[in-house]
Order: sequence, then structure tokens, then C-alpha cells
Amino acid sequence: MSRFIDDLKRTHTCGELREQDIGQEAVLFGWVDGYRDKGGCIFVDLRDRDGVTQLVFDLQVNEGPLKVARTLRLEWVIGVRGRVRDRGTMRNPRMPTGAIEILVDDITVFNQAETPPFVVQDDVKASEELRLQFRYLDLRRPTLQKVLRTRHRTNQVVRNYFDGQGFLELETPFMVKYTPGGARNFVVPSRIQPGKFYALAESPQLYKQLFMVAGMDRYFQIVKCFRDEDLRLDRQPEFTQIDMEMSFVTQDDIFRVIEGLIFRIWKEVLDVDLLEAYPSGRFPQMPFYESMARFGNDKPDLRFGLEHTDLTGLVIDHRGGGIPLLQSLADKFTSGRYRQDLPQEIVKAMRIPAEHKLSRKEVDRLEDFVKGMGAQGMARAKVAPEGGWTQSPFAKVVTPAFRDAVNAATGASPGDLLLFQIGKEPVVQTVMANLRLHLGKKFGLIPEFGSGGQWRFLWVVAPPLFEWDEENQVWAAAHHAFTRPYDEDVPLLETDPGMVRCYRYDLVLNGVELGGGSVRLHDSKVQAAVFKAMGLRDDDAREKFGFLLDALKYGAPPHGGIALGMDRLCMLVSGRESLRDVIPFPKTQRGSCLMTDAPTPIDPALLEDVRIVTTV
Ligand code: AMO
Repeated sequence: MSRFIDDLKRTHTCGELREQDIGQEAVLFGWVDGYRDKGGCIFVDLRDRDGVTQLVFDLQVNEGPLKVARTLRLEWVIGVRGRVRDRGTMRNPRMPTGAIEILVDDITVFNQAETPPFVVQDDVKASEELRLQFRYLDLRRPTLQKVLRTRHRTNQVVRNYFDGQGFLELETPFMVKYTPGGARNFVVPSRIQPGKFYALAESPQLYKQLFMVAGMDRYFQIVKCFRDEDLRLDRQPEFTQIDMEMSFVTQDDIFRVIEGLIFRIWKEVLDVDLLEAYPSGRFPQMPFYESMARFGNDKPDLRFGLEHTDLTGLVIDHRGGGIPLLQSLADKFTSGRYRQDLPQEIVKAMRIPAEHKLSRKEVDRLEDFVKGMGAQGMARAKVAPEGGWTQSPFAKVVTPAFRDAVNAATGASPGDLLLFQIGKEPVVQTVMANLRLHLGKKFGLIPEFGSGGQWRFLWVVAPPLFEWDEENQVWAAAHHAFTRPYDEDVPLLETDPGMVRCYRYDLVLNGVELGGGSVRLHDSKVQAAVFKAMGLRDDDAREKFGFLLDALKYGAPPHGGIALGMDRLCMLVSGRESLRDVIPFPKTQRGSCLMTDAPTPIDPALLEDVRIVTTV
């Protein structure tokens, strides 16, 4: 019965046959997914990319195929010919093909398979390590097949959309010049020029700007990027961006193009009409500082409340409000001006509405949780019926005026609980942002994937151009030095660089940074002022960005762009929590490929060729 594939011609996939096909002859190919021997009758589930179909081998009808069926094992590759018949009372409404089965009268075994290290099924019990080691088996699981299809579909929608909008799909080099700063690069040694290195591109950034100088007007690319960073669930060392750049545009023009793309992807991939949630076709925008104050980070998950209130200003106004810890913080502010940009001590509160019950023990546990993130502790106050504070280290000392002001600022009413964080801004923000997420999950406030109203998009805009580099005591570009500052903030480049906002933006979805970009700086005078604010001398700037600076001198149009994380997009669209679920062959947290064992040591002779000496 074992023949070559030339003898059989596939008529259907395993996900295709329905009630209306009953009586037809069908030829199906696939893998043995399940097997039930009932003596005179054997049932086999046959699986391919499109689904599963039940096969029946019946002694009464045809003995030959039944004999072959007895030898089958999981994951063997077979082809069958048979007639589609009604499953009658045995129909399985959970299977798309559940109304029918195939009564087999001819079978071919194309290939046998060794017993797989885990059963290929969606509720797989095997560890992720084992699955990554045998990724080609893992990828046979229906969920992962569906994810990869979604990825394919998304790619097609992106290409069609940009093509329709007049964008050119152009490629940029992966092997590029190493430039310090930004994400850490992987490096590639040159054999022809021993001792010299290329870097693998962390993004096509500089090249896409050069395309604009070259007059390409609108560029896009679905492109691999490489970054030697610490890895997390939402970070891989090689990942894919949907990258674009446009000439003669404002920030709003770029937003409109991306909003159109997202609407299209949601419609064509998920069959979700985002117009219901966003009737204007536009996503909301929030200034960076507002996001930091209300959520503690610049990628807020807007699907639930538990917002923060920044109390620093109130603490200063009330000189600590009778609370010694806050008094000493207030004393440190010589001027009343609250600087949003500099690392400093701040005070924040989160109001837990009375309906979310937390026992004292649970709050104690929360305090341990925040200490694990570097917090000193977590002061609290329960609001009593007349507005007083109980169960609080502040209860006895707080001035009524400060207490009432805090209650008003946080919107606290009787029965609510206030949780406070006091300390260095970065720690307070991180702790409060994580605490909000933790409690959002604990109180069940984050909707499940697939439920209504789960898509909350947000543009986070107007972040500071610089951040203070504590180690080198200089202002450093928060993203890159070619971002256009707000015109009204340009004079601050000389007097107060930390307060300069810029046309940089992030697109956030459900608390995940989906993409980021900026309007670029093409005015050489402002560019010089930016370098000066960063303490970069002309020759330093030339050394770092020489070819771009040259190019910008030859008639660069106003331009800007953005890159969306393709893997993150697929992760969200597929309702997964890890990039490893949407990248066909991902790396582990330690950057390994468990299937091929990369990275590995290499032949010393190869190293010699490129004049690399290893010490390990
Ligand atoms: P940025 O560095 O913000 O911008 O990257 C854009 C988007 O790429 C995704 N991303 C990642 N995804 C998976 N693993 C990673 N290690 C990883 N790093 C980034 C994120 C992120 O929002 N050249 C600029 C874009 C521009 O200015 O036009 C850039 O690369 O979703």
C-alpha cells in the first residue's frame, strides 16, 4: 500500500469538507493526529495546516486499508482516498469538519515518524524548552499554525496598504557601520579587512532618512532588526519592524497613515471594525508628562482605572502636611517649581475604590511586592466616613488641611484605600506603574482577549528631547539626536535643555509599545544647537553621524516616520503574551536557539582569518 505521491492527487485539505460534500470522493494528505482502534473499525484523525478530518477504516467494507491502519502511529504522514459520509448521530459540533468522516478505501504511507517527544496538541503538557528544541513539531500545533497564518495575513495587508498609499518597498543594508549610542549592536568581523567590523542594523533609521534625501518621498519595509539587548517576553534579539518614512509631512500626517493601516489590519485580519470604538477614525493622544503622572510610564494600559495622583506639588504647598517624611522632602525644594524632567523625589498616591476589598494582610503582601522593586515601603490610609484617615502611619500627624487636599486630589471617598509612594522619581514611577498593573489583574479589571472594548490605542506625544546622563553629567538624546524639537521650545536648548519637548511619538496598545517614531530635524541651525546642548563638538558629531550630516546639507526635505514592532503587533492581534509564540524560530531569554544550539564556539581557523583572539 505504500506508493509514491505521484499516484494520488489531493482534492481537499483536512479542514475543508462539510455536510454538502457527503457522497463525494476525496483524497486527503496529512499527519496522524489521533487513533482509536475499535476492533473491526479504526478511527484516525488526519491533520494538516487547515484542520482535522476523521477517517474510518472498516473491516466490513475493505480489509486492506484496515490492515495498514493498524500499523499507523502518531505523526506518520499518509494519504487516503475514500468517500465522504455522514457522521449521523456521532457528529462533533466542536470540529468544523465534524458533520462528516471519510470511509477509506485506499491508503498510502508516505513516511513513518519516530515517537514524538510530546503529543502535538494545543493543550500541550511539555515544557517550553522541549517545545523550542523540537520547534518544527511545536509549530504543527493548531494554535501556532493559526498564529503564523495571522502573521502572513498581516504582512499582506501591510504591503497592499502601503502600496495603495504610494509607498515604495525598498531594502536597506543589514551590514552597516558601527555607531556608538542607541541599542547595543551585534558585530560582524570582516575577513577581507581583518580587524574591522560591520554592525548588524538595529533599524533602517539612517538609511530611510537617506531615501528621503534621495527623493523617494514615501518608503516602507517589513524588515529584520538586530539588537543585543537584555531579553524579555516582549523583546527578541532579532525582530521585525514595519518601517516607514515620508517626506513633506507633519506629525499628524504620519499618524493618519498609521491609523489607516491599523484600521485596515483589524478589519482584514480580525474582522473588527475599529470605527465602532473610534468613530472619527483617529486615536487619542496624550502628552508624555500626563502619562507619567497618571500611569507612571509612557505606555499606559487604558483598559482600566487605578490611576495615580502626583501629590508632589501639594506636599510642597503644605510643607509636608505635618508628616515628617514629607516635610523633609518638601524642604529639599528650594524653589516651588516642580521640574518634570530631572530625577528628583516625588510623592504619588493610588486610590483603591472601596468596592475592591483588600485585607490588611493583603496590603502587607503588596508592601513586600513593592519592596522587591526597590521601594522603601508603602504608606497607606483608609478613608473614614468623615474623611479622616485610619490604618495609616500618617493618621496621627497629618494636618486636616493636607489630608482634605489629598482626598480631593485623589477623589477619595469613605471606604477607599490610598496607597502612597515617596522617593526618587524613577523608582516611584516604576513601582506605581507595576502596582497598578498587578492590582488591575488581581481585581479582574483587565478584559480577556476577544471580549468587547479590549482595544485601547493611544499616541503618547511630546516627550522631552533629552534625558540627563547621570554617569557622564551631560544631556543625552532620549531617542536620537535628529528629532525635531517643538518650535516654541527651541530657545530652551540654550537655557533649559531638559524642558525641550520634541516631535517624538509612541503608539501604545493595551499597555504595549507597538511603535515609535519622530519628525526629523532637517534644519542645520537647530541641529547645531541640539548638538551644543548635548555637549557634542562638531568633530564628535561628524565622527558619529558624518554621512547623514553631509546628506542633510544637500537639500533634505522635511521628513518623518515611524516603525511598528511586527512581532508585538502579531502578539496582540493573536492574543498571546510572549513574542516567542508569534516568531516561528525564536530565541530564549538567554539568546539561544534551542533547536540548532546557536550560539556556538566556532572553528579557531575561522577566528584566525578575521584576527579574533578569544580568551574563553
Ligand atoms: P524603536 O526603537 O522605538 O524605533 O522601535 C520601534 C518598535 O520596534 C519594536 N521593537 C522590538 N520588538 C521586539 N524585540 C525588540 N528587541 C524590539 N525593539 C524594538 C517595538 C518598538 O516600538 N528607527 C526607529 C523608528 C523611527 O524613528 O522611525 C526605531 O527603531 O514595537
